[in-house]
Amino acid sequence: MEKPKIIDLPKFEDPRGNLSFIEENSHIPFKIERTYWIYDVPGGQVRGGHAFKRQEELIVALSGSFDVTVDDGKAREVFSLNRSYYGLYVPAGIWRQMQNFSTNSLALVLSSTPYNENDYIRVYDEYLEFRKKQL
Ligand code: TYD
Repeated sequence: MEKPKIIDLPKFEDPRGNLSFIEENSHIPFKIERTYWIYDVPGGQVRGGHAFKRQEELIVALSGSFDVTVDDGKAREVFSLNRSYYGLYVPAGIWRQMQNFSTNSLALVLSSTPYNENDYIRVYDEYLEFRKKQL
C-alpha cells in the first residue's frame, strides 16, 4: 500500500515574489476532480478526523502552518506543513486529521474525486475494520 509523502512542488524564486504551481498527473499522481480549502480555523480546532475509501489528495499549507496526522491503522505519523511549495500526498485508505492551525492559515486540498459522503469513514473503529478487510 502507498504511503503518505511530501511532494516538493516547483518554486520560481523571484525578487518580485515567488511562484509555485501544480499540474495533475505530473506533480501529483492523480487527476484533480475537486479543490477545496479550509480557512478561518479558530485556535485549537481539529478538522478532518476521517478516512476516504477512494479519494486521494494533496494538502498544501498555502499560508501559515498546521499539522496533518496520518494513520494507516498500524502506525501514525505527523507532517508539519508550513511552506506553500510542499504538498502532502495522502493516498486512499488513510485516516487523517488536521490540527494546530496557526492564525490565518489556509489549507488547500486537491482531491481525486468529487465530494461523496459515502466515501468517508468517520468512525475510527470502522476504519480499522475497513483496513483489516483490505489486507
Ligand atoms: P468535512 O470533509 O466533513 O470536513 P472536516 O473533515 O474537515 O471536518 O466537510 C464538512 C462539510 O462540508 C460536510 O458535511 C459536507 C461539506 N463539504 C462539501 O459539501 N463538499 C466538499 O468538497 C467538502 C470537502 C465538504
